[in-house]
Amino acid sequence: MANTVLIGAQWGDEGKGKVIDLMTEQHAWIIRYQGGHNAGHTVEIGGERYVLHLLPSGILHEGKKCVIGHGVVVDMEALLTEIEDVTKRGISVEGRFFLSDRAHLIFPYHRFLDENREGKAVGRDRIGTTKRGIGPSYADKAARTGLRAGDIREADFPERLRRRVRDYNRQLKTLGATLVDEDELVREYVAAAERLAPYIADTLVLVNRAADAGEAILFEGAQGTMLDIDYGTYPYVTSSSATAGGACTGGGLAPNRIDRVIGVIKAYTTRVGEGPFPTELEGEEGEALRKAGNEFGATTGRPRRCGWFDNVIARYSAMVNGVDHWALTKLDVLDDVDTIQICVAYDCGGRIMDTVPGAVRDLEQCKPVYESFEGWKTSTTGVKRFEELPDRAQAYIARLEALTGVPVYLVSVGPGRERSLIREEVLKSHGRAV
Ligand code: GDP
Ligand code: IMO
Ligand code: MG
Repeated sequence: MANTVLIGAQWGDEGKGKVIDLMTEQHAWIIRYQGGHNAGHTVEIGGERYVLHLLPSGILHEGKKCVIGHGVVVDMEALLTEIEDVTKRGISVEGRFFLSDRAHLIFPYHRFLDENREGKAVGRDRIGTTKRGIGPSYADKAARTGLRAGDIREADFPERLRRRVRDYNRQLKTLGATLVDEDELVREYVAAAERLAPYIADTLVLVNRAADAGEAILFEGAQGTMLDIDYGTYPYVTSSSATAGGACTGGGLAPNRIDRVIGVIKAYTTRVGEGPFPTELEGEEGEALRKAGNEFGATTGRPRRCGWFDNVIARYSAMVNGVDHWALTKLDVLDDVDTIQICVAYDCGGRIMDTVPGAVRDLEQCKPVYESFEGWKTSTTGVKRFEELPDRAQAYIARLEALTGVPVYLVSVGPGRERSLIREEVLKSHGRAV
């Protein structure tokens, strides 16, 4: 059985949660490998809506094993709340959920620093983070001053945490930020640690033993390629490796044991937060997409910026992730559009480019070069088979395949599980062969 990496190919919120849920059936293990509770993955099952932030979306399937790998940064309070929430809804995580002992932790001082920076930043310095403390926690990891999940089992954990709080409070004080109440924080987090301790494991061993036994593993990416710390529109990115390589460094399986990469891509583009977005539609057209696609953040509720499909980005994503197959989501959102645009190149001050420039200032100067496409103007949400999609919708998909060089194995036409048109024959093919 195949070990699969699933990534977001744009700026996040591509519908990864929905596709993970579908893919979970063919896998025994689901591993989150980067990011933290900045993610919001929505799964709709039979009219019930679940939004998962830290737990892998596969948790909704009883019997599947789920792991938070060492590439993730974990807010213990957020994780416990999420475990409680799913438990209340009748889903037990006991005996099948494991948290890597190597995963770094997020504490309130990370959040206060994130909030303070974002609150003060003006103009180009604003990133538009989720204010969850993600960046500061990864900064501690890289600076080798972070606390990891395995540390909570050690007798000196409270003392180490106190030292970190004191260090941070000094920094927060000079910034005029909210200070941490040392005693309260230590009390709260020692209690949280006790509750989380039973889930902590050496997940590297678990994942590799499972692979040795031939059990299929699915790696669940969070965020998206253009938010990746290296490949994204730096500095308007998140602080982790959201691309396929992150599955190896943050999930624990070696590259030669990965069999395929699935890229989740929306039929148009969205972005939350600051940073360049060449195909962004401001005004009425953008508003219409936002409304039709219900484009409001699953984590922060912020309205998402909306725009046309950007093939320069799609090709770039296919390249850096090695995407074998696309899962194309939210096709139904374009049902009422008269003329659909696809950005096929950038005009950067008279120079036509079909690659993403490394410097964000260059990307900011790029204007989209569009190819127009006549809309199908028919509802697709009730369509049950790919072949039953309107001709023009099929032609749009064929054009995206030709432009990106990657075949589409799944077309999603609604949030629910059943609104999925799967082309089994494409999935069985080697991909990238179109
Ligand atoms: P993720 O972060 O990539 O998992 O995506 P989000 O869950 O943040 O955002 C995707 C949103 O689109 C969610 O509200 C999904 O329920 C919804 N969604 C997913 N696929 C489709 C689709 O094909 N059509 C429509 N209309 N909505 C979809
Ligand atoms: P999912 O997994 C969309 C964005 C934030 C901000 C930038 C940095 O649901 O696709 P951070 O808090 O990570 O330091 O913020 O990244 N961002 C996301 N945008 N979907 C997400 O996750 C995101 N996670 C972070 O809006 O621009
Ligand atoms: Mg999301």
